[in-house]
Amino acid sequence: MKWESFSDYASLSTRAAEILLQEISENPLAVLGLPTGRTPIGMYQRVVSECSREYRCFRDVQTFNLDEYVGIGADHPGSYAAYMREHFFSHVDLRPANAHIPNGKAADLDAECARYEAAIRNAGGLGLTFLGLGRNGHIGFNEPGTPFTSRTRVVELTESTRHANADLFADSRVPTRAITIGIATILSSRRIVLLASGESKRAAVERLRSAVVDDFFPASALWQHDHVTVLAAM
Ligand code: GLP
Repeated sequence: MKWESFSDYASLSTRAAEILLQEISENPLAVLGLPTGRTPIGMYQRVVSECSREYRCFRDVQTFNLDEYVGIGADHPGSYAAYMREHFFSHVDLRPANAHIPNGKAADLDAECARYEAAIRNAGGLGLTFLGLGRNGHIGFNEPGTPFTSRTRVVELTESTRHANADLFADSRVPTRAITIGIATILSSRRIVLLASGESKRAAVERLRSAVVDDFFPASALWQHDHVTVLAAM
């Protein structure tokens, strides 16, 4: 695991954007795993400012989001589909058909998870995956206790995760379930970059740095992968 430390969020975001831009310039058919949350917003802003539509940077790129809430549609402001439109998709030339997000309103959620996992496989697997870090060590929505062999599936969210993500939900009506790609799906990426910024992530980052691999700290699974970079600004 490679560690890069930054004095502030701006420089972490610039570095994350640089890694993403380098990937798509070296590999125009890149398959990216993409996160949501507050942390990657600066990365998306920088990528968008370098890659407005006329540059056609994303013409043949495919993206797979890590997760989506169950029970809300793409038009709900709290959905990750809405987040991705706002921060990224509507500003670049990524083809809508190449921008994949699990459908949290699918009638058959298990079938939707299987379809999503197959779509990743059909795209040739995840190339470069960016991750955020939950305060409890979750990656995607893989909460503590998730087996490292897990694949895309429906999960129950912990109270702490629902609380941390309550901003965009009126009356704190954060969904109780989500679809997430699994830890094994994440580990199947060719390369992984984890972003962690701010005091609220310090304990999780320190725990990750301790290199103790433990199901109850999902991010520790990344020690089982040989091409991980952690970008940390504490
Ligand atoms: C959510 C997302 C995760 C993300 C985490 C951290 O739970 N499902 O993928 O990593 O939030 O978010 P933030 O960057 O806002 O701290």
